[in-house]
Amino acid sequence: MPNPMISRYWPQYKWSNVLSMIKNMKVQPKRCEASFQNRLAVITGATSGVGYHTARKFASMGARIIMINRNAEKSELVRKELSEAFGTSVEYITADLSVLADMQRAGRELAALERPIDALIHNAGIHLAKRRLTSDGFEENFALHYLAPLVINALLTEKFKHDKAGRIIFVSSEAYRFAVWGLRLDDLQWERRRYSGIKGYGSGKVAQLLSMHLLARDLEPYGVTVNAMHPGMVRTDSGKDNGKFYKWYKRNVIDKYSASPELSAEALYYLSAASELSRTSGVFFHLTTEEELAPPARDIAAAEALRDKTAELLKEKGVTL
Ligand SMILES: NC(=O)c1ccc[n+]([C@@H]2O[C@H](COP(=O)([O-])OP(=O)(O)OC[C@H]3O[C@@H](n4cnc5c(N)ncnc54)[C@H](OP(=O)(O)O)[C@@H]3O)[C@@H](O)[C@H]2O)c1
Repeated sequence: MPNPMISRYWPQYKWSNVLSMIKNMKVQPKRCEASFQNRLAVITGATSGVGYHTARKFASMGARIIMINRNAEKSELVRKELSEAFGTSVEYITADLSVLADMQRAGRELAALERPIDALIHNAGIHLAKRRLTSDGFEENFALHYLAPLVINALLTEKFKHDKAGRIIFVSSEAYRFAVWGLRLDDLQWERRRYSGIKGYGSGKVAQLLSMHLLARDLEPYGVTVNAMHPGMVRTDSGKDNGKFYKWYKRNVIDKYSASPELSAEALYYLSAASELSRTSGVFFHLTTEEELAPPARDIAAAEALRDKTAELLKEKGVTL
C-alpha cells in the first residue's frame, strides 16, 4: 500500500528549503557575551561532545550547572574539572535517559528545585546503526531523543509556569530530514519495517521537533521559550556504540569534515542567553540561524496525533503525563 504521507508532504516540499540549509551550514554562529552569573543551566548528556563543551561554556560565563548523565564516574570528572576551573557550582544527577523510571526521577528532582531553571538543554543523544530496545521495550532513538525530554518537560511544566522564566532547547539535527515522510504512528518502534540507522535517528528527532511545537504553544503565555537547534557537524563521540566499519568511516571521513563542538556550545549559549531571543519560541535554528522546518517536522496535526499515541504507550507502562 502506498504511504499516504507521500501525498500529504510531497506538495509541501520546496527545494529552497534545502538550499537554505546548505547556505546556513556556512554561517558562523552568533555569539553572546552576556554573563550567566548565578543563573542555572541544566544540560543532559554533558560527559562528552556537544554537552560537555556546552557545560564548559556556561561554567566559563558564571552559570551554576546541573548535568544529567548516565555515567557517575565521567560526571564526577567533569564536575571536578569545571568547578575547579571556573569556581562555579557544578552538580549532576545520574540517570539513564533511555529508561522511563530514570527520566521520571530526574524530572522530579529538577521540579523540586527552588531556584528557576534559566536554561534547560536536552542534548543527550545516540546514533545507532542497529535497532536497539530499551529496558522498557522502546526503540532507543524514540526513548532517548523524544521520550526523555517529553517526560522531563512534563514534570517541569508546573515549575516553568510558576517561575515564568526559562528557555528550553532541544539539540536536534538536520538529519531529521532523513525521516522524509515523517513518522509512522503505526510503527513507532520499528517492528514492521527494516530499521535503518539514519532513518531511526531522523524519526527520533522528528518526534522531538513535533513535541517542541506543542510545548512552545503551552508555555508561550508564561514567557518560557522552547526552541530546537542543529549543533553543526562536529567531532564528538557520537556513534561510539556502532561497529568497526562505522567507527573507521567516522574517524577517517566524517571527523575530517567536522568542526569542533565548541562551535555548538557557542550557539547553544547564544540561544540561551541572548536578550534578543527572549520571546522567540517554537523555532528551529541551524546553529543560530532561524530555519524553516521541512514539512513532516512542522505538521501540527501529526504532533497532536503523536502526543495521543504516546499517552497510550506510556499508559501501558503505568505512566501518565
Ligand atoms: N556530532 C554531531 O555532528 C551532531 C550533529 C547533529 C546533532 N547532534 C546531536 O548532538 C547531541 C549530542 O551528541 P554528540 O555528538 O555530542 O555525541 P556524544 O559525544 O556521544 O555525546 C552524547 C552524550 O549523550 C549521553 N547519553 C547517551 N545515551 C544516554 C542515556 N541513555 N542517558 C543519559 N545520557 C546519555 C552520552 O553519555 P555517555 O558519555 O555516558 O555515553 C554523552 O554525554 C545529540 O543529541 C546528537 O543527536 C550531533
